Amino acid sequence: MRSISIVLLMLIVSTFAVDKNNFKTCEQSSFCRRCRKVQPGSSPYEIIPNTLNTYANHITADIRNNENQHVFVLKLEALKGNMFHFEIDEKSPLKPRYRVTDALQKEPTYESIKVSSTSSEITIISGRNKAVVFLSPFKIEFFQDETLVTSVNSRGLMNFEHLRKKPEPPAGEQEGAEGDESKIDPPEDDPGAWEENFKGHHDSKPNGPSAVALDFTFHQANILFGIPEHADSFALKSTNGGDPYRLYNLDVFEYELQSTMALYGSVPIIYGHGAGATTGIFWQNAAETWVDIAGISAEQNVMSSIVNFVAGSRQSDPPSAHFMSESGIIDTFVLLGSNPNEAFHQYTDLTGNGKLPQMFAIAYHQCRWNYNDEQDVAQVVAKFDEHDIPMDTMWLDIEYTEGKKYFTWDHTKFPHPVEMMKNLSDVGRHLTIIIDPHIKRDSSYFFHNDCTDKGYYIKNKDGKDYEGWCWPGAASYPDFFNPEIRKYYADQYLLDNFKESTIETGIWNDMNEPSVFNGPEITMLKDNLHYGGWEHRDVHNLYGQMQLVGTYDGLVRRSGGSLRPFILTRAHFAGTQRYAGVWTGDNAAEWSHLEMSIPMCLSLSVSGISFCGADVGGFFGNPDGELFYRWNQAGAFQPFFRGHAHIDTKRREPWLFPEDVKLVVRDAIRKRYSYLAFWYTMFYEHERSGLPIMRPMLSQYPLDKNAYALDDQYMLSDKLLVRPVMQKGASKVDVYFPSKNGEKQGDIWYDIDDYRKIERVGVESVSVNSYKIPVYQRGGTIIPKKERIRRSAVLMQDDPFTLIVAVDENNTAKGTLYIDDEKTFEYRQGKYLYLDFEFKDGVLSSRYIDETAKFSTKTWLERVVIVGLNKTPTSATLRTSDNKSTQLEIIDVKKTSFVIRKPGVSMMDNTWSITLNY
Ligand code: NOJ
Repeated sequence: MRSISIVLLMLIVSTFAVDKNNFKTCEQSSFCRRCRKVQPGSSPYEIIPNTLNTYANHITADIRNNENQHVFVLKLEALKGNMFHFEIDEKSPLKPRYRVTDALQKEPTYESIKVSSTSSEITIISGRNKAVVFLSPFKIEFFQDETLVTSVNSRGLMNFEHLRKKPEPPAGEQEGAEGDESKIDPPEDDPGAWEENFKGHHDSKPNGPSAVALDFTFHQANILFGIPEHADSFALKSTNGGDPYRLYNLDVFEYELQSTMALYGSVPIIYGHGAGATTGIFWQNAAETWVDIAGISAEQNVMSSIVNFVAGSRQSDPPSAHFMSESGIIDTFVLLGSNPNEAFHQYTDLTGNGKLPQMFAIAYHQCRWNYNDEQDVAQVVAKFDEHDIPMDTMWLDIEYTEGKKYFTWDHTKFPHPVEMMKNLSDVGRHLTIIIDPHIKRDSSYFFHNDCTDKGYYIKNKDGKDYEGWCWPGAASYPDFFNPEIRKYYADQYLLDNFKESTIETGIWNDMNEPSVFNGPEITMLKDNLHYGGWEHRDVHNLYGQMQLVGTYDGLVRRSGGSLRPFILTRAHFAGTQRYAGVWTGDNAAEWSHLEMSIPMCLSLSVSGISFCGADVGGFFGNPDGELFYRWNQAGAFQPFFRGHAHIDTKRREPWLFPEDVKLVVRDAIRKRYSYLAFWYTMFYEHERSGLPIMRPMLSQYPLDKNAYALDDQYMLSDKLLVRPVMQKGASKVDVYFPSKNGEKQGDIWYDIDDYRKIERVGVESVSVNSYKIPVYQRGGTIIPKKERIRRSAVLMQDDPFTLIVAVDENNTAKGTLYIDDEKTFEYRQGKYLYLDFEFKDGVLSSRYIDETAKFSTKTWLERVVIVGLNKTPTSATLRTSDNKSTQLEIIDVKKTSFVIRKPGVSMMDNTWSITLNY
């Protein structure tokens, strides 16, 4: 069985390009075809007069489709934080339609409204926001401060296919035979309305056509972005003439770049941004979804990542998005921004913030498919030490298991898993192992027997356990939508059950789209049945996330609630950030894939998923030395940093490359470690604010149109500008230094390597040698670092800090530092330090941001680098909170920087200052 799949796999590897035939186009998908047929113009939907009901926070009104007289109900409500939410469902459906659960972190908070109405419109006012519902044709316009920002159904593309009884074929006629066309309701004139076939797979569609679709126009926008996961530019392109962007969690083998094809995850959030406003639409639907983009010019399409992209020169129609989902209801959040960060915050306010990981999880991870046995693991670990390359986590892919039975070990290769893990944890390192959702159908496997006996598997349409094909051969899939099954699944992670694991073992949930090798489009049949009787069709994009809910619960309980779980997932949906980090799946060792890592992670970041990374080095194929070191350099400045490779690739641990390559890789990884304190602070602030860690340039520079579509450079928080080298043989790269006001006013920047000062707005062509990673600290910021690099991040916990104070044009700077035990949940009980640094009038001062938070740390301040001051002081004076003062030496004086030597103050000191003496 296994050999068949490996042979198959190798056959495909050699062609090295996605087999598009495996995946549907919109034309091949009945509901997409039907929804796309609706032409812009006058919508048949209208509000039925006199059906308006007004409540404290919401209104309801009935909507009729005047082509078939079917009636729907609109509910529109105002939410706190500049948002509206509306739902449209059938007034009396034949049976309930699916509503997404588990995407929102909690019930939103509602805001009071004032309502007035005329015979043609209903006006709902909530603070500075207003929604105007037009009766006929039905459309909604959303205003902020009287500016029209977003409208709904203004292109008239709404389509809501009500549930209906399957028409009986007229007596004497065969099903499917031609009938009297005039009697056929529009959706049903599509041959795939009541059943559909794709590549030999049959979808019985017991509920018939049930699509929902709606258009959204972003009146103030020059750019649309969001709706991951696609291997495409950050700026969404017009889909006119091509396929819509598809959201359907799929295991796409050797995915293609610059493509609207679906990938492993689906987050249905889209943003429109322009100088006047940023707004977002969160389309809460877990069924297969396609999104057409219009109002983006052809010029914008090709120029998406080129500076001087003339974002202002759009077509006459404003940008718009047309969402089309196969089932469910219309359930939409309208985020009114008004700037990018506010819109991002609104989205994470709804779906939750990524949680602070343990420190090790943001350090360097070493993976491959596979590390073969315990000796292999031990040797790789030893080599990292020998070559003085820090590394925190070793990973084991599927081959560690006994016959692909998760929660078991292959004891011939791994006779002592716990001891192996202990060897790692002795030096602060970790092990992460893969646990996929497919369960081997093997009567000697406890998990399979339990699931069979207790009825825990997803069922096929006939109510039998669904059987598919994946790594273990014949496999079935637990129905994670059932809370009892999730609990059972979570229990398997407990040490009493999974004895050969520890409370520290990290978990990698892969193949959870779910991947089914012999299923339609390599996934599950849509007429499979889940808990509550829902079809797989309704919940598909949420399946992986429900596995994560179980994994997360299991890992929290495994440590008695003390340790923060580390989980990596491939499938994702809205809200996944609450449980796991995401990586971009099976990329390739090609320069274009290295470049794609940035737009993909930027799109995920603005969609709530900040903990993102790509397989460093490329999963398929063998990177040459240059690609390998450039990829490590790029990875060192992305949130999740892991080297990984396919089983058929050559071994590629850094020391297997020529010495000069290894040295560059080592330098990049060590650079990551020197910035871990900054990363950790960013992750903490991400948990507090929900703002992305890796940010598109427009988040900091919303007025600079030239920066909107940039996706070869980005900001880390609001402090570093990162523009990795991603072209073969590059000796120069173009870095774009953005404008604050849309004109010539910019920030001051400092190259992090030599503190060279840059004061321009526009492109600078920067020279790069092999070691160079173009990264710039923004003037006006303070960044914490640690400069004693050790074998693992955990070993650096007590090491002293360096602060890099980079001043702005007023000679001021601000920054923060977050410190805790780097692993437990105790920070949630106030056991941490959150420090605020300010440099002003020649004085650097520190204070606690959260006065009541306390944490005992051995860390202290070793060095302060002041960057960008014109005058060098003769000395500095440290004043600590006990009123003692100490004279400090100024050393390492350079053209744009100097160092204050060894202040020595404890990070626990709640108010200290350092004054420069001239
Ligand atoms: C697919 C994953 O994307 C890849 O990273 C992994 O190595 C293989 N599955 C084998 O588990």
